[in-house]
Amino acid sequence: MTQNYSITLLPGDGIGPEIMAVAVDVLNVVGKRFDIQFQFQTALIGGAAIDETGEPLPAATLDMCRNSDAVLLAAIGGYKWDSLPSNLRPEAGLLGLRAGLGLFANLRPAKILPQLIDASTLKREVVEGVDIMVVRELTGGIYFGQPKGIFTTETGEKRGVNTMVYSELEIERIGRVAFETARKRGGKLCSVDKANVLDVSRLWRETMINLSSEYPDVELSHLYVDNAAMQLVRSPKQFDTIVTGNLFGDILSDAAAMLTGSIGMLPSASLGASGPGVFEPVHGSAPDIAGQDKANPLAQVLSAAMMLRYALNQPEAADMIESGVLQVLQQGDRTGDIMSEGMNLLGCHAMGKSLIQILQSK
Ligand code: IPM
Ligand code: MG
Repeated sequence: MTQNYSITLLPGDGIGPEIMAVAVDVLNVVGKRFDIQFQFQTALIGGAAIDETGEPLPAATLDMCRNSDAVLLAAIGGYKWDSLPSNLRPEAGLLGLRAGLGLFANLRPAKILPQLIDASTLKREVVEGVDIMVVRELTGGIYFGQPKGIFTTETGEKRGVNTMVYSELEIERIGRVAFETARKRGGKLCSVDKANVLDVSRLWRETMINLSSEYPDVELSHLYVDNAAMQLVRSPKQFDTIVTGNLFGDILSDAAAMLTGSIGMLPSASLGASGPGVFEPVHGSAPDIAGQDKANPLAQVLSAAMMLRYALNQPEAADMIESGVLQVLQQGDRTGDIMSEGMNLLGCHAMGKSLIQILQSK
């Protein structure tokens, strides 16, 4: 029987539309194979939405997302909108989407692919075999804490304020996702905080320790965020699953991504307690190469695979996409960001075509 899914597409800005086009083609190909029918509807977010409607997350977009089975997002942001006030920047659209859908858990895998080992800036022996999952809290912490803003004091001096705040319940629910994730992987969970300085981190650590009694099969460890950043580049293989707050997770997931050679390869899933999740590449909108057919579409394609796996319960279709990506790399196809000597340099569109050829031959 044909399975029907309604998917909201948010191509956004920069390279977003180019990489989204590839992901949609790929989904249609695997959909045919597995008798899945996708109903795609496209909505505005980020700079594209600002240009069209004056706001980065129009109510119609959030509604459409809420009423779909899953959301596939590309990227937002660009130089053009950089000087707008923070609540009108493209980023506010993304943050509003996360908050609006209650997506508190952000899963960011960083797995080194053998085909790309030479694309890493780190030595082969350091990165070979790296397979990390960063579980980032996504709707709390300093990104959302109150008070926030730029205020003027009585003496006329300006003060910029953000507040890093976590409640026990917020820590517990991301902790549970992380323990469950670690349990399905290598059984090791490293919680990252700054408990030597920050009170909010002391509560974070305490709560993780309390929670750990419910997960005796998972080995819990703790690192301060500065040390974690160092360990990630010094000996990344020590990590299995990492759990951390919004800001530390933002930073560490970029660092973890780079271990694999290019941030252009990495997908992510943002999930809530219920309702549709958002699946998007870890990378941004790359305005410097937008519209030039140079972008790597594979993180977007792999995000579509994560959507099939986590939101739509179609693991076979996800497997097919993931193995297709490995095969395209195996045959030497590369975009600029992962190019190395002797490989075929392709543009975004050609990379998509090559992948589709592989998928159609399966
Ligand atoms: C990310 C991005 C976003 C974040 C920006 C674009 C708001 O860097 O998804 O990692 O900081 O969360
Ligand atoms: Mg980031």
